[in-house]
Amino acid sequence: MNLKLLFFCLFLAALIAPAELKRKKHKHHEGQGHGKKKEKVEDILKDLFFEIVEGAGDDDDDDDDHNNADWVLELQEPDGQCDPNPCLNDGVCEPKGKRKFKCDCPKPFKGRKCQRGPKRCKRGRCGRGECVLTSTPPFYECKCKEPFQPPRCTRLSLCEPNPCRNGGQCIKDGTDFDCLCPTGFRGRFCHVGPNDCYVGDGESYRGNVSETDDGNECLYWNSHFILENGADPFNSFEDSDGLGPHNFCRNPDGDEMPWCFFRRGRRLSWDYCDVTECLQPTGVVPTEIVPTDANPTAPTSRPTTPEPTVTPKPTASEPTASEPTFSKPTASEPSTAGTPTQAPQPSPTPTDVPPTPTVPPQQFATCGQPQPKKNVARIFGGLKVPPGTAPWQVSLQVRPKNSNQPFRHTCGGVLIESCWVLTAGHCSEQMKDMQVVLGGLSLDLEEPTEQVIQVEEVIVHENYRETPAAVYNDIALLRLKATDGVCAKETQFVKTACLPDAQLPDGMDCTISGWGATEDSQYGSNHLLEANVMLISQEKCSEPNIYGRVLDNTMFCAGHLMGGVDSCQGDSGGPLTCDQNNAKVIYGLVSWGDKCGRKNKPGVYTRVTNYLDWINSKTQAASS
Ligand code: ARG
Repeated sequence: MNLKLLFFCLFLAALIAPAELKRKKHKHHEGQGHGKKKEKVEDILKDLFFEIVEGAGDDDDDDDDHNNADWVLELQEPDGQCDPNPCLNDGVCEPKGKRKFKCDCPKPFKGRKCQRGPKRCKRGRCGRGECVLTSTPPFYECKCKEPFQPPRCTRLSLCEPNPCRNGGQCIKDGTDFDCLCPTGFRGRFCHVGPNDCYVGDGESYRGNVSETDDGNECLYWNSHFILENGADPFNSFEDSDGLGPHNFCRNPDGDEMPWCFFRRGRRLSWDYCDVTECLQPTGVVPTEIVPTDANPTAPTSRPTTPEPTVTPKPTASEPTASEPTFSKPTASEPSTAGTPTQAPQPSPTPTDVPPTPTVPPQQFATCGQPQPKKNVARIFGGLKVPPGTAPWQVSLQVRPKNSNQPFRHTCGGVLIESCWVLTAGHCSEQMKDMQVVLGGLSLDLEEPTEQVIQVEEVIVHENYRETPAAVYNDIALLRLKATDGVCAKETQFVKTACLPDAQLPDGMDCTISGWGATEDSQYGSNHLLEANVMLISQEKCSEPNIYGRVLDNTMFCAGHLMGGVDSCQGDSGGPLTCDQNNAKVIYGLVSWGDKCGRKNKPGVYTRVTNYLDWINSKTQAASS
């Protein structure tokens, strides 16, 4: 990165918060989708994604095409021995010479590291349709785009059979069709009934809307396209959250209202849905659904049971985001050998010790132990972080000194102790008022889980240095303002990350999180996102076509050399955490990179293991 880039980076970070505040929320009552686009046959035909590929449906198993993941693994190959076993899926490793190895892969896995399973949803397999994965042979199914017909979605037939549900009439319109819906029914296939609505945040919504606010058709939750872009929402959420082999909008992850994934060109995206909020939250009659017609775009596999529109909210065994229950203080076990370094505890010596002290609830006695509420849904290269998954994540916010202006997000940070946050050196803005927000996921909502604390002191590393090419010793400590001797209070949503106690192996999968820019929004995300990145060897990252000689041992690279998933502007100072001794350790701080998500330009992170003594000396000096 050159200086220009750094400034650009800071400039963008400055824009992030205000611009994102405008987002969403207002959508609640816009149910009927005015001015939405309608998907036309013409569009489907023009869509490269639905290109017919000759012979694509024939062979069963395939791995002939060059697989990107394989290429990355090869590039990132740390040192080639068999310990730890580099072979995935129970592959057996055989050393080959000093630096090489060979994996003997159990069927049906293939690839250098047995990382490739059978590829059911090969490009073109489903013609003008979406390929979804199923758990029974042949393990995939084609969901044709109307009016293309099963099994291969290559044949077009207008209005025959009638794609319109609930007695809707199919009207031919040139090469296209329209459904004329009976009163009260709506949706492209009249599949949304008059009582299809959601209550509260829509967690209990089980209705049939399958379009986003802007008229994009939702992807099936078991769509290959979603899986290919990251996670497996269907498997991770199971049916208790309403996800299944369908494309109806749901809110499985504690968002504000039902949403779904959709495809934008070759990218995975998500948006809130064109759903209506219920007027009367009780006594709702389920939408009339003709069982065999329940699934608008999948005549071959329709759900057999009608789904009621609204089911009563399940009696919560777990707290919801809006009604937080704070976790009981963790028992104060002595740390066992091999436990990652716990940041030193502030000496619990309040000046006015009561004569007969009741055992004080021990705060932050363990580190690196998230208590996630729910599993994760993936968006773009990142995941929406569910409450409690990254409880050490901090939003560092600034405003002009002594002004009344609202604080705006500028950087990420990591809570390592009740009164100490780690962040990047370049995030320090000494001329500004600074505060941190802990325990929050959304930048534009005031969440009951959140704790806002003033920054009392910023300690930037003495050797912090920016050059046109890189940022060195990019680390700072923020000392938070204490109230009655306490700064952050431990809850299910606010916890410390552990400090690492040793280097971790190259190739390891770690997690980054932040509100920074995404492929979709240069101003950053309003909701905290996370993504997985791999630790890239110093040697690899110092190759001339990557970052060359500007890297030193105060930093390391992580990401995917093929591009895509990365941290970005606004994520700086935030965590890269990895598993070490059964806890999450703060292994890196987002520092810099050449733009974001570019091939051969992974993110560069401050190497926290290099600064353990520095961190301890600063935090201890302050508490003694
Ligand atoms: N400097 C950026 C910030 O202040 C972080 C950039 C990270 N870039 C990357 N490609 N990982 O937010």
